[in-house]
Amino acid sequence: MTRFDLTGKKAIVTGAGRGIGKALAIGLAEAGAAVAVVARTEADLQEVVQEIQASGGAATPITADLTEAGAAEKVVAETLETLGGLHILVNNAGMNIRKKAHEVNEEEWDRVVDLNLKGAFFLSQAAGKVMCEQRYGRIVNIASVAGLVALRTGVAYGASKAGVIQMTRVLALEWSKFGVNVNAIAPWYFRTPLTEALLDDEAFLQEVLQRTPSGRIGDVEDLVGPAIFLASDAASYISGQTIAVDGGMSVYGF
Ligand SMILES: NC(=O)c1ccc[n+]([C@@H]2O[C@H](COP(=O)([O-])OP(=O)(O)OC[C@H]3O[C@@H](n4cnc5c(N)ncnc54)[C@H](O)[C@@H]3O)[C@@H](O)[C@H]2O)c1
Repeated sequence: MTRFDLTGKKAIVTGAGRGIGKALAIGLAEAGAAVAVVARTEADLQEVVQEIQASGGAATPITADLTEAGAAEKVVAETLETLGGLHILVNNAGMNIRKKAHEVNEEEWDRVVDLNLKGAFFLSQAAGKVMCEQRYGRIVNIASVAGLVALRTGVAYGASKAGVIQMTRVLALEWSKFGVNVNAIAPWYFRTPLTEALLDDEAFLQEVLQRTPSGRIGDVEDLVGPAIFLASDAASYISGQTIAVDGGMSVYGF
């Protein structure tokens, strides 16, 4: 099990105040990492910091709006200052504005792409400088099945997540030789504040379940093992890959 042990590692998890990011931050801390949890307000982070600290882990809150200029440098600098290092980055913060292609306007497109793709890239760039320099790093991007196949999530979201998957490959190409592995996880439907309203619609839920070979919606816990794996030495020869955590949905042809 030492292959999966993150003791001594310092990690950043964005969008860690709730949903998937919160579960991943707690999971990495349980595996031994000290975690800088990032969200827009300190209040968003109180619960996750308390939960990690209560179970004997190390967590520090960092507030940043990842769509703002300079946010990436600030997050990396504060992580180095408070945790004394940086080995793992989980780009999880993301959003969606569900609209038909005919209806989406420029401001909405920009908001989705600025956070999901541009925000993840510039934070990877700032973290990647440190990681390449020290010849060690793990970047885990939370993409989506919407970046692998066409879903009714909206064009900006799908395009941004496909962009994250391709960004993952290109960064792997450039940085793997420095010991920095870059991979992505593509989740299908998980119940979080992002998807709650959709999944509360019984007809929609049944449609999702019909397309899910595992026959159930994902639990955020289902993402923790894959994230720890990709962040650990167990994945030292895996780079540029996207693992779908989707109950088999993305390979289901009928
Ligand atoms: N829930 C799902 O079914 C699902 C499926 C596929 C992919 N994903 C992806 O997983 C990730 C997490 O999703 P979730 O369901 O937990 O969503 P969520 O809405 O519950 O959480 C998103 C997090 O991102 C943070 N955030 C939003 N805008 C930000 C900004 N400008 N700066 C900093 N932080 C910001 C929010 O505060 C929140 O903590 C997203 O990238 C999402 O696209 C989710």
